[in-house]
Amino acid sequence: MAASAEVWDQSPALGRIFLQLSLHHAPVPRPRTAGWYVLRVFITFEGLDGSGKSTHLARVAEELAARGAPYLATHEPGGTPLGDAVRRVFLDRRWGAVDGRVELLLVFASRRQHLLEAVEPALARGEVVLCDRFTDSTVAYQGHGRGVDLGLIERVDEIATGRRRPDRTLLFDLPAEAARARGDSPDRRGRGDVDRLDAEDLDFYRRVRDGFLAAAAAEPERFRVIDSSGPAEATAAAVRDALSDALGDLGARRAGPRAGARGLEPERLSAASPLGPGGGPPGQLG
Ligand code: TMP
Repeated sequence: MAASAEVWDQSPALGRIFLQLSLHHAPVPRPRTAGWYVLRVFITFEGLDGSGKSTHLARVAEELAARGAPYLATHEPGGTPLGDAVRRVFLDRRWGAVDGRVELLLVFASRRQHLLEAVEPALARGEVVLCDRFTDSTVAYQGHGRGVDLGLIERVDEIATGRRRPDRTLLFDLPAEAARARGDSPDRRGRGDVDRLDAEDLDFYRRVRDGFLAAAAAEPERFRVIDSSGPAEATAAAVRDALSDALGDLGARRAGPRAGARGLEPERLSAASPLGPGGGPPGQLG
């Protein structure tokens, strides 16, 4: 965590150089619709079910697509064929109450595969990775929600990911009651979209929310807490603001490059992304 924050603090220098080159020197190829992206940035979207995070991830993806910026939009648990199979098992209502450590091992199995097969290769190609949930969800749901020891989660995280952290995490925050009203609506139940965790009571979701907020307070450099209790447009504006240093002004895609927009140093992730002992290059399992 500390490593990620340190790297973040050091990030602007090379990013500005890249920015200058891409804006002012003809030989440097420019993306189709914009020239100021420095890519290879790992952004996660976190929050309670019903917080709107997935909707806003899709909007950011649309903005990137409109600017011709390469990106991967993905999710956890899942994001690979193996991970999606784990996801189906994880969310299956047939199991009823599942032990928190069983859940922990399932989500980290999916996560390691996801890093190896999807996330790290996309970053290596220089793409922006937009990921719906990551390890902060495990700390919030299995740790604070289920009561799994946080030290144990750290140990499994070490084995599975080498304690990989995103560069930026947007936490979509709203009271548990409001999130449940959106995420577990009668409409959704009618469509049969209700999964195993939807059966949890309000107290569980209050603990999960508190867990997310505690994580955000512990790592203010990485997190941006976004109030998602209001109208979607207000939340979208807050998202643009929260990503402006990493991705430029997402609200001005047709206005051209803006003075002051800056990107992230391209090299900074390589040092921060070891997959731990046995990690190896993408596709190899330790
Ligand atoms: P989703 O509906 O946002 O895709 O997430 C599926 C459910 O999985 C959601 O209720 C949160 C839960 N979950 C965990 O409990 N632990 C985790 O580590 C992750 C990634 C998700």
